[in-house]
Amino acid sequence: MTLPVVTPMTPADLDEVMVLERRCFTDPWTRHMYLSDLTQNEMATYLTLRVVSYKPQTPDSSNSPWVVSTQTSEIVAYGGFWLMVDQAHIATIASHPARRGCGLGQQLMLALLDAAIARGATTSTLEVRASNQPAQQLYLKLGYEITGRRRRYYRDGEDGLIMTTPPLADTAIQERLAAARAETMARLQKCFDGASIPDDKP
Ligand SMILES: CC(C)(COP(=O)(O)OP(=O)(O)OC[C@H]1O[C@@H](n2cnc3c(N)ncnc32)[C@H](O)[C@@H]1OP(=O)(O)O)[C@@H](O)C(=O)NCCC(=O)NCCS
Repeated sequence: MTLPVVTPMTPADLDEVMVLERRCFTDPWTRHMYLSDLTQNEMATYLTLRVVSYKPQTPDSSNSPWVVSTQTSEIVAYGGFWLMVDQAHIATIASHPARRGCGLGQQLMLALLDAAIARGATTSTLEVRASNQPAQQLYLKLGYEITGRRRRYYRDGEDGLIMTTPPLADTAIQERLAAARAETMARLQKCFDGASIPDDKP
């Protein structure tokens, strides 16, 4: 198994993305929402993280000098942002439930922030459920701060917290992101580089 690779999301990814979407969110987006962002919203950028696995196959002849393997690839995380003038609004982010704690959330957020800066973003903001501690901790770690609260923001009545970064060019946040980048790589290697990971449980 290889380390996760960042790739732009395309409509061809949506079958896989929708399976994860329904597993990761109590109020999932529809396929149409993703499709219209991917095909009609120039301000939207969506990325996926993919891992590739190679499975050795039994050679058809024991005299064969070749090692034959089949290749499969799997989306393990995805997310996106909308560029609102010079602010990247993180629209969604999710990592595979069976791969949590491996650094995928961090890797994806760092990739989204890189893409946002490349598109001209100078800050980033997002909304997160008040009860969603894992996501809030991830954002805090990357330099987001709680800057507001939207009462009953979600359809089930839960409040949303607004979290925003300081200017992304600030030295302090650049140092924080660089530290997270180094730590993410080590964490991903531990989980994905040759080590066995638990089978997915549907
Ligand atoms: C939020 C989410 C993307 C995190 O993904 P992940 O791949 O587990 O994240 P990582 O392995 O990169 O962890 C990075 C950091 O996130 C935070 N974090 C992740 N899981 C956590 C948990 N269960 N409790 C507290 N903090 C957690 C920590 O700060 C962690 O760094 P640390 O271990 O050094 O403290 C994932 O939990 C998810 O997909 N949740 C469902 C969808 C969702 O809520 N999306 C956010 C919508 S706003």
